[in-house]
Formats: sequence, structure tokens, C-alpha cells
Amino acid sequence: MRKRIVAGNWKMNTSLEEGIALAKSINEEVKASKEDIGVIIAPPFTHLTSVKEVINTERICLAAQNCAAEAKGAYTGEVSASMLKSLGVKAIIIGHSERRAYYGETNEILNKKVKLTLSESLKAIYCCGETLEERESGKLFEIINSQIVDGLFNLSNEEIENVIIAYEPVWAIGTGVTASSDQAQEMHAFIRNLVNQKYGGKIANEVKILYGGSVKPDNASEIFGKEDVDGGLIGGASLKTSDFLSIINA
Ligand code: PGA
Repeated sequence: MRKRIVAGNWKMNTSLEEGIALAKSINEEVKASKEDIGVIIAPPFTHLTSVKEVINTERICLAAQNCAAEAKGAYTGEVSASMLKSLGVKAIIIGHSERRAYYGETNEILNKKVKLTLSESLKAIYCCGETLEERESGKLFEIINSQIVDGLFNLSNEEIENVIIAYEPVWAIGTGVTASSDQAQEMHAFIRNLVNQKYGGKIANEVKILYGGSVKPDNASEIFGKEDVDGGLIGGASLKTSDFLSIINA
């Protein structure tokens, strides 16, 4: 049985003060909860150090939302995986669809980010997902296939074991429309099968695949109940402690 994971992606939300308050309240609730669920939170870069001070890092994994595609040097405004590691970050979200769509991040760029993240012994939470147009034109499996193959499949067996995959259909992110649990299961099984073909059954069976896109307290348990869905990557609902906690408890 794979361990369940619920990850909160705060995106570009909260002032420092609000972020600390949110982290504190999530920490209190997680402390009180007996569920053996992996909880991850990904605040903005500017909040990471302060958030780390108010959470129990044994129970909550601190993640960043992005990192640079280069290790160091003259890249104004960028933040490297090694800098994030030095703050105590344990995981980095790579390839969120907002990064792909608004910042032109290609599978090749994202592969560099994944490699740098893993070279710092951090976990990479690698996102993939199709747009509505891609789904409706029937290109859906082709798109996910190339995001997974080009983004991940030059990794070694040891490296892929430190990757968490998040399937997030773009049309479901922040829209209030979720994929049905059957649509999620279909794609998660497809992704697990790709991993199986490349890395074999043991790794495919262990790799965690999260679903993301308008997960809310009232739809989480149905989606998380599917065989190949190992938890969720939560945007909007991770900004409210009670919603985030209900999703964890789902
Ligand atoms: P949402 O975002 O839960 O607000 O739809 C999910 C995500 O972007 O990871």
C-alpha cells in the first residue's frame, strides 16, 4: 500500500504574516490528526524560512513551488535548488501548468530542473496535464506521454524513486471543474503503466501519483478512493486550514 500524500500549493498568495498564520494553524491540526498521511506545503519562496520555524518538519514536508534550471551564476531573479536546500526545503514542485503556460517552460527545461533538484537530494514533484483543447482533440495520451517521457525518462532508477508525479488537467485547475474520479483513474493508470514499461513493476508500484485540479473537501474522498490515485496537489483549498484538513482526512 502506497503512503498517501496531500500537498498544498499556495501559489502567489498570502503576505508573510498571513503565511505564517496559515502554516501555524495547519501545523496544529496536523499535530492533532492521527492519520498517517504525508503532508507537504509549498509557500512562496519569500516565506520558506519563516514557515519552517513554525512547523514540525517531521510531520510536514516543506516544499518550494519552482527552482532555476541552472545550478548557479548570473541568472538575475532566479533561485537555485541548492539555495532552497540550504533553507531546509525538502521538495520542489516542477512543471506546474502555470509555469508551462505563462513562463514557457518546456519538457526539456523541466527535465533540467528535475535533475538539479534530485542532485541536491530533494524530492521533485513533477506536474503534467493536458489542456481542454488537447483532451477534446483526442491528443490527451500523446501529450501526457511526452511530458512524462521527455521530462523524466532519462533519470536513473535511483533518481525516479525520488519523484512524485502530479497529474493536473489544466482545465480543472482553479476552475471548480474537477476531472471525474474515472477520468483521474484512467490517466493515473496510464502514467503508472508508462513508468512500468520504462522502470519495471517494483518502481511503478511504488511511484506516487497525485491528482490536482479543483480538489475540495466534498470531492476528495471519491477521487482519492481510486486505485492509482495516491493523494492530491491542492491549490485554492490549501489556503484555508479547515478545507485543507478535510482533504487530508479524506
Ligand atoms: P486548484 O489548483 O486546487 O486551485 O485547482 C491545483 C493546482 O494548481 O495545483
